[in-house]
Amino acid sequence: QAPDFCPQVGVVLGSGMGNLAANLKDARVLTYGQIPHWPPSHVAGHAGELRLGTWAGVPCAVMCGRVHAYEGHPAAQVAFAVQVLAKLGVHSLLLTNAAGGIAPHFNVGDLMVIHDHINFTGDNPLLGPNDESIGPRFFDMGEAYSPVARAMWQQAAGRAGLTLQGGVYVGVLGPNYETPAEVRMFGRWGGDAVGMSTVHEVLAARHLGLRVAALSLISNLAAGIGNQTLTHEEIGEIGRASQPRLARLLQQMLPLLASPNDR
Ligand code: HPA
Repeated sequence: QAPDFCPQVGVVLGSGMGNLAANLKDARVLTYGQIPHWPPSHVAGHAGELRLGTWAGVPCAVMCGRVHAYEGHPAAQVAFAVQVLAKLGVHSLLLTNAAGGIAPHFNVGDLMVIHDHINFTGDNPLLGPNDESIGPRFFDMGEAYSPVARAMWQQAAGRAGLTLQGGVYVGVLGPNYETPAEVRMFGRWGGDAVGMSTVHEVLAARHLGLRVAALSLISNLAAGIGNQTLTHEEIGEIGRASQPRLARLLQQMLPLLASPNDR
């Protein structure tokens, strides 16, 4: 990419979804190890690359693999990646993840637009002294998942011939999958899906004032809802199998998100 390449949209590809980055044109690839201070990601199925290129005509900065708090990184390190994307110039952040389905009407393979979240990680990327040049100390989370972006997901899904679910994402620390009792509690709290990422990135993004669009792939039914044993391999497999649908959806979504109106 030319040195003046200015990405508009940041994209984070979740477990098993990294190959979607093959849709980028003229991509410049940086491994996380090449970026000063960027925490390394060691999770199987997460490539650990930042790719700068054009996707569906939109200049994008794409993280293939994210750093997770369960790797031992403080949440602030997770937020660092989002702050770098903002410095590169992105105004919107599109996040994807794999999550366990809690809502009784969800099926494995469903795509869920995240409407809101519950941060049950016990951590926050913005603990400690606040850097006012990044964002305010106390900031609003009332519409953290942009209603405009949520409407865009529906429009994009219509164009891609897909149906989307919607719901509340519960962010947990991991690395274990939940107990059935925890999943029952999350369901009573209003949670529809549970996963080990995203909430810290969204907190960092809202602190910066970025617009957030986020999508969960329901890769399994959460513990106690399905009766299968949960494994990282099977969850990654559903991610890979869902890539063609996700590619179609993102192809429609990215140009909508890049359009300058209503940010
Ligand atoms: N729980 C937590 N994280 C997950 C799950 C789950 O069931 N599925 C994918 N990520």
